[in-house]
Amino acid sequence: MVTWIVASAIVIALYILIYYNFLSGVPCRSDTSLKGRTAIVTGANSGLGKATALDFARRGARVIAACRSKQRAEAAILDIRKKSGNNQVIYMHLDLGSLKSVRVFAETFLKSEPHLHLLVNNAGTGAVGLTADGFNAAWGVNHLGHFLLTSLLLDRLKQCAPSRIVVVSSVAHCLGRVDLTDLTSPTAGFVSRLCSYGTSKLCNVLFARELANRLEGTNVTSYSVHPGFVFTDAFCDLGIVRKLLFLPIAFLFFRTPADGAQTIIHCAVQEGIEKFSGRYFADCAVRKVSPRARDDAVARKVWEVSERLAGLHRD
Ligand SMILES: NC(=O)c1ccc[n+]([C@@H]2O[C@H](COP(=O)([O-])OP(=O)(O)OC[C@H]3O[C@@H](n4cnc5c(N)ncnc54)[C@H](OP(=O)(O)O)[C@@H]3O)[C@@H](O)[C@H]2O)c1
Ligand SMILES: *[C@@H]1O[C@H](CO)[C@@H](O)[C@H](O)[C@H]1NC(C)=O
Repeated sequence: MVTWIVASAIVIALYILIYYNFLSGVPCRSDTSLKGRTAIVTGANSGLGKATALDFARRGARVIAACRSKQRAEAAILDIRKKSGNNQVIYMHLDLGSLKSVRVFAETFLKSEPHLHLLVNNAGTGAVGLTADGFNAAWGVNHLGHFLLTSLLLDRLKQCAPSRIVVVSSVAHCLGRVDLTDLTSPTAGFVSRLCSYGTSKLCNVLFARELANRLEGTNVTSYSVHPGFVFTDAFCDLGIVRKLLFLPIAFLFFRTPADGAQTIIHCAVQEGIEKFSGRYFADCAVRKVSPRARDDAVARKVWEVSERLAGLHRD
């Protein structure tokens, strides 16, 4: 009996040690105030987006929660306002699965808000199916919608420089391919879903990189982020069997949204990281990415394809 108690105590102590030293990640140590600054966070109603919006609100920012569901957004906003004591948290409708919705959002934002200092492209999905415009859902929402959004807001970010763009990617970008010939097929099955998701996240990394190249000398910088494995709603649409297998693992080993948001926050507020514009961060530090995720020619090609598919034409 005593042996069992001692053994369990050791296991629990080890777990706590490992959790806090390795799994929970590195906290953002900057105490930069965001008073007088305006931030947009997409998908701010849950998970990492909500944790990021709450942190920005606590730092005094005016936060635009760009979400597709008014009801879910307003519930989150109420909570963020209460916890931060900051009432400058505002809902604006944005469905990244519709290029029209992205255009309407940008127009409304540019008309009603004079400033933009931080854009956090956080919303993401691993959903099956197609977007309103007929693109693979993960690619359309995670990459193309955010590509158009960022493009439409870029002049305002330049006017408000120094300003930053943070693209929430994932280590899953390693599973992605840059063969962009088939973007209009829905995914079917677990593996194909994972690959589509990976491709969208690879495009996130390449987008942050190409943006940085194009923004050189403007004092607008961009970063891509892997937040770690985080226990959020993202894992709630698993089937029952996968859920039962997955939930205990997630519960024990995944980060909380507040811990996962630290690298996003770091890239948004940490002083002195501008020289790393275009790079990929995890655990509040720059990380090296695979050769295909740092290929400037590929990044340029993804940009050109996206520009065409988002209906943006240079005159
Ligand atoms: N969790 C992880 O372990 C992990 C790891 C690596 C990267 N990430 C990335 O982190 C980001 C945030 O994910 P999360 O884990 O916090 O998941 P989450 O809690 O499910 O949040 C996803 C957010 O994206 C929004 N969204 C989805 N489709 C949208 C659309 N068409 N238009 C507008 N908003 C849309 C969701 O809104 P609704 O509530 O309306 O659906 C929700 O607010 C994603 O980009 C994800 O790829 C997560
Ligand atoms: C960028 O910031 C530096 C340092 O604050 C400033 O000297 C420079 O004029 C800025 N450049 C632009 C294009 O705003």
